[in-house]
Amino acid sequence: AAAEKGGYDYFMDKEIDEQPQAVADTLLGRISAEGRLQLDEMRMSESELRSVDKVIVIAAGTSYHAGMIAKYAIEHWTRIPVEVELASEFRYRDPILTRDTLVLVISQSGETADTLMALRHAKDQHARVLAICNSNGATIPREADAVVYTHGGPEIAVASTKAFLTQLIACYLVGLYLAQVRAAKFPDEIADILEQLSQAPAKVRETLDRMGPVRELGRLLKDEGRVLFLGRHVGYPVALEGALKLKELAYVHAEGFAAGELKHGPIALVDQGLPVVVVVPPADRPLLHDKIVSNIQEIRARGARTIVIAEDGDTAVAPFADTLIYVPELPTLLQPLVATVPLQVFASALADAKGLDVDQPRNLAKSVTVE
Ligand code: G6P
Repeated sequence: AAAEKGGYDYFMDKEIDEQPQAVADTLLGRISAEGRLQLDEMRMSESELRSVDKVIVIAAGTSYHAGMIAKYAIEHWTRIPVEVELASEFRYRDPILTRDTLVLVISQSGETADTLMALRHAKDQHARVLAICNSNGATIPREADAVVYTHGGPEIAVASTKAFLTQLIACYLVGLYLAQVRAAKFPDEIADILEQLSQAPAKVRETLDRMGPVRELGRLLKDEGRVLFLGRHVGYPVALEGALKLKELAYVHAEGFAAGELKHGPIALVDQGLPVVVVVPPADRPLLHDKIVSNIQEIRARGARTIVIAEDGDTAVAPFADTLIYVPELPTLLQPLVATVPLQVFASALADAKGLDVDQPRNLAKSVTVE
């Protein structure tokens, strides 16, 4: 097993470091030289895709967080309404599905029982099902009408890392493809996003190169019992994912919140020394950015220890950050590709410092095949 880990203590750390390659492999061959998307495996005709009037994203765990981010991207690029639902809740609420509903099922393993049952329910209602999956030939891609595979390679650690980043790539590709097929309103913006996506592997690599201080922070905070995570817009699902990683690996009571909800409850939790991780949107989105900067000031005034993740050059947050982690610039919708990385590294380092088995957390399974 030591050889399989390629010199790493844990598969998770290896898989975190494989993310630039996993992202590159998932993009490979899908953007033509002319800057058009080609999803040959799509198996859904352009006319079918043009008739879609609603998208419902269904997933569990980390894949659900990818689905939340997909909603922001797909709605923005296509103007098709998108709902996101936990797989375990979906069929119990009598969801409204028609032939023109596109159900996007996201599953790393392709075997999660909750997700599979949701897929079958959608098919019974005659919706069209598109799967995003990392495991060739698994049950979910076999039963779906079409599949976009993530090419992350096998993921062994129970906590999902590289699968998540490649799911984001697949979600972006699906959203952009829908926009392309449906003659999007923002063709220039889409060409620009494709160009930015092609730079994502290098930006993830750059982020990884800066993780020394994050690992140190994980070790420093190993005795913390609680950590909060805040984000707004796509930073909100990133905050949820950061909290999930810390719960899974380090058994820390970690919660993610939408930053705007702070004043509606969570701020009551803030006391002296509480670590709060804040994901800051790019500074060129002042509406989002400046509100988060005030949130950071508010929690800091109440004694929180602020751990701020912001894009390069964002100096406005510096005075209020006890720890400042810079990530490379990307457009807001793509920022989760880099902003998630420090949260993965932080959780792994903190769990390791506690002497826990990072790859095999208690009570969890890689793939949950019971409902
Ligand atoms: C389990 C794993 C998680 C994963 C979730 C969904 O709970 O421990 O890491 O995110 O299942 O798995 P899937 O394979 O459907 O993406």
